[in-house]
Parts: sequence; C-alpha cells; structure tokens
Amino acid sequence: MIPKSFVQELLGRVDIADVIEAYVPLKRAGSNLVACCPFHTEKSPSFTVSPTKQFYHCFGCGAHGSVIGFLMEHSGMSFVEAVKELAGRVGLAVPENRSSAAGASPPDRIDELLEVMHRAAAFYKAELKKSERAIAYLRNRGLTGEIAARFGLGYAPNHWQSLAAVFEDYGSGVLTDAGLVISNEAGKRYDRFRDRIMYPIINQRGYVIGFGGRVLDKSEPKYLNSPETVLFEKGHELYGLFQARQAIRAAGRVLVVEGYMDVVALAQFGIANAVATLGTATTPAQVHKLFRYTEEVVFCFDGDAAGRRAAWRALENSLEQLQDGKQVKFLFLPPEHDPDSFLRAEGKDRFEQLLTEAVPLSTFMLRQLTERADLGTAEGVAKFLQDLRPLVKRMSAPILALVVRKRAAELTGLLPNEVDQRLGFTDSPRAAPPPPAARRRCSDPYSRLLERALAEPALLRDLAHAALPSPETHTAGSRALFQLLDQCLQLQEDPTLASVLELLRQTEAEQLVGELMPAVQDLQKLSKAELAVEVAGLVEHLRRRSLQADAARTLASVRSMGELSGPTRESVLRALSGAKPVKGN
Ligand code: GTP
Ligand code: MN
Repeated sequence: MIPKSFVQELLGRVDIADVIEAYVPLKRAGSNLVACCPFHTEKSPSFTVSPTKQFYHCFGCGAHGSVIGFLMEHSGMSFVEAVKELAGRVGLAVPENRSSAAGASPPDRIDELLEVMHRAAAFYKAELKKSERAIAYLRNRGLTGEIAARFGLGYAPNHWQSLAAVFEDYGSGVLTDAGLVISNEAGKRYDRFRDRIMYPIINQRGYVIGFGGRVLDKSEPKYLNSPETVLFEKGHELYGLFQARQAIRAAGRVLVVEGYMDVVALAQFGIANAVATLGTATTPAQVHKLFRYTEEVVFCFDGDAAGRRAAWRALENSLEQLQDGKQVKFLFLPPEHDPDSFLRAEGKDRFEQLLTEAVPLSTFMLRQLTERADLGTAEGVAKFLQDLRPLVKRMSAPILALVVRKRAAELTGLLPNEVDQRLGFTDSPRAAPPPPAARRRCSDPYSRLLERALAEPALLRDLAHAALPSPETHTAGSRALFQLLDQCLQLQEDPTLASVLELLRQTEAEQLVGELMPAVQDLQKLSKAELAVEVAGLVEHLRRRSLQADAARTLASVRSMGELSGPTRESVLRALSGAKPVKGN
C-alpha cells in the first residue's frame, strides 16, 4: 500500500494540466482547459481539465478523475505505476512498500533491469542496420524501415556472446535475471538470442520488458521469447499495445491477433489498432487491460482448428470482463491464412470487409454450443443447456446474459423460465425491483451533502467540525460522507476534488461518488457562498430530524413506563432526568 498521505502530497505537487497536455492538446476556456475527449470519439470538445480542482471531467462520456486516474485510464497504468510515474516527474521518492508480498523486487532492481533491457534493445536495433541478411528478410516480408523503426525491430547477431560488447560485466546476475543471458550447468554463459530478428515487447509506459526472437529461416524453434522475469509477466502484457494506443482510441476498437508479425504487418497496411498475445492463450487480465482503452475487442484468429480453439479460450476468458456496453467479437479468417498472409493475399479492403462481419461473442458462443449438441433430441438439448450453464453464470454483463438465455430458449424450444431454471437463474420474478439508485439517493440528505462537499471540498473541513448527527440507519451516502469527514480531519491542507477522489479510491464509496459526479458538475456552477448556505440548510435539517427521532424514542419509552415494574421504572425515570443511578439498585 502506498500511504494515503503520500498520494495527497503528490497531488499537491503535480499539475494535472501539465500531465494531460502531454497526451491531449488542451485549449484554454475561461478558468478551465478543454479538448476533444480522449476517451470517446467526438467532434466538439467536452473534455474539461480544471487546474484549480486538479480534476478532469468529460461532459460527453462522464469520464472523470484526478491526474492519477487520468494516467490509469489513458495509459492503462496500474495505480502504483501511475503514482510512481508522477512521483518521478516531481522528484519525490515513493515510500517503501513494507507490506508487499515476499519476493517482490526493490525498485532499484527493477530500474536496473529496465536499463539493461533498454541497452540490449538499442544494441539489437543497431545490429539490424548492419545485417544485410536481416534487412533482406524484413524487406522480403514487406516491411518498410519506417514500420521496423516504429516497432523497434532488431537483430541478434550470430555469436555466443554478442552482448559482451554492450555490458562490461557479462557475468553480472542482472543479465541472467533479465533473461538475456543463459548460464548452463557447466557455468558457461551465452546470449539467449542468437541470429534472430528481435521484436521488443514494450509495456504501457514505453519500457522494453522482454523480447520475442524469430529465426530467419525454417529452423526450430521458430520463436524464442524472453522468460518471465520480474518485469515481464506474459499473461498481463500485449505485444504492440504501446504503439497501438492512439489508433485504438481513434478506431474505437482493438484487434487481438496471435502473432507478432501479424501486428507489424497490420500496421504496415495502415491498421494500427492491433495487439498480440505473447504466444499464450488470451487471459482475463489482458482482456481487462484492453477494456480500459476501448469498448470493443475483436479477436482475429487464424481460420484453422487451432485458431478456433484459441478463440474459444479467449471467449471463456472474456466472460468475466464483459459489461453491458462492452463488446467482444470474433473474426475468422480462411483456414489457410493468418492476418499477415491474408492482407498480402487479399488486401486491406477485404480485411476491413471481414471486420464488419465479425461475429459477436454471444453468437459465436451459441453457434459453437449448437454445433456440439443435436438440438433435435432431448439429450442434445440437455447437453446444450449443461454446456451453456457455466458460461452464462460467468458472464458479468446482466443484459447480455439475459438475451443469451432468451436465445437459448428459442433455440431449444423451451420456455424462458424453464431455461432459466435449468441454468440456475431462479430469482423470483415477483420480487419487486429495487428503486433506481438515483431516485433513492436523491431523497437522502447525506448524499446531497456529499454532492455539495464534492463540488466545494473546502466545505468538508467545516462539515467535519459541525458535529453532524448520524442517521438511524446508514445509507451509502451517509457512510461515504462520514468516511470522508474522518479522513479530512487528518489532511494538512484543504482538499481538492482530485484529492478527495484519491482518498476514496478502492473504498466502498468510490462507485457512489462516480454516480454523483453529474450532479456535482452542475453544483460547481454555484459559488462557494451559495453552496455553504445549502450545506448549512441540510445540516440544520439533519439536526432537526435527529432531535425529533430522539424525542420520539423518549416519548415511546415514557409511554411504556406504565408497564414497567417499580424499581426499573424509577431507574429509567432517573436516567431520563439526567440523575445518577443509585448504586446497588
Ligand atoms: P511468422 O511466421 O513470422 O508470420 O510468425 P507469426 O507472428 O505469424 O507467428 P505464428 O502465427 O506462427 O505464431 C503466433 C505466435 O505464437 C508467435 O507470435 C509467438 O508469440 C508464438 N510462437 C510461435 N511459434 C513459437 C515457438 O516456436 N515457440 C514459442 N515459444 N512461441 C511461438
Ligand atoms: Mn504469420
């Protein structure tokens, strides 16, 4: 855990406008800065950055947050990565993480490994320029120098210890830890990559964390990849993501292919929004990462049996990442092709045509299941539902899951509720749906206070000292508000909206605050004085309500007095009148 106090300090030092400016060209508009939103496609700017609030918000798509949130959303960094990135900018050292899992590497070690990878990549790149054979190979595959440079392609010379020319201490453990050098049982050390085209694998921050190396002929193994290291976790990374980020946003979708060469070839043909998995099945973490950038993921696998198997694995690993509004699709190429060979054989237009025909996940799923079971027989229907059950259960998009269940009913000829029962969806349809969250909250004074406090966080301090009465039963709004007030008392300076959001990150209150954001934006039009008046009114209302509740309770107990036995009755009356109880009574 990074201490909250450090996050607050960091937010005080970094300027959100400086950071965002590097990614999105900002224009001044009054006290704010505006741009076309990088999180959705639009023609007129509704993305606003407020330097005073240290906060960004898009009126179009609702994206909002602090500078940390921006880096996480825009560059796909994790929270820790974003904090480190920002701390680096302003020269703050991130406090050591004492509770981190055993075995985690200290930051110095990671920096050392990154440095080694960076130098190796530069070396391989320079070697490519010197190798006519390697250049001819890439030319022959249709690549221009521009694309090779874009992907930082290189060449590992055909020697056992080429890297000794780069690293003075070839015996250093860092080189083996980085996966660049192998040390055999006899203690001999040699380069892992020899006589191979080198594809650097780059993380979202632009650092080289691994390599894929391809032979130039037909020898085996065709590809050699870096081993997993502290830098490189195959199931979490995607080849080409760093280069593809802008194109993914512009296209509104990402293509996931199987091969490094497919990514590079697609880019060569002007289709720059493609990434590849790293020789393994697509993982949930990878899908999750992609959904941070875009709402549509299209898996584009080879048309052969292996491609279909890979697609099915990708489907299974996407189910828990689905949300209504996010889409996964599948594009199948003819059996003899991968994206690279298809483009060269059929051209870009044919490829884009196929893209428009990509099959939605639900269609692919039901189609595969009906192929596996003969729905003309009772046994087939049973099998179909049995196969479907675990899949639908894992789907995290409720509307999509509902539609799939309805489709399943049509396909099997069963009634929807029979299908639901079989699939284990048995919640009673008679149970009244909960009132819409928005309406429920709107009548909750604590949520209204929270909205106003978010619109003008300086008011939080006054509120923290206002001895706000607790409600009879807590609501999401009251819990969030009290949590926030508690935290504010510990702050050195007045909080900004950004720092408040960071205080609530990963707490129960985070989602509620996200939902209140549109209202908060409206309220920001009011002056601080106007908001203070509203807050005072709400506090007054809550105090009155609390007093009335107390009075009602007192009245009720007084009423029940008559039924109490003599001594108890007397002690209660004493307590009510504020006198001390008589000892031994
Ligand atoms: P080209 O033959 O150059 O077109 O390669 P490709 O990028 O199209 O790769 P291919 O479709 O043959 O394989 C897909 C991915 O699987 C590759 O990009 C690698 O990540 C991985 N892969 C392929 N062959 C091997 C191998 O021999 N060993 C390992 N470890 N991974 C491989
Ligand atoms: Mn290929």
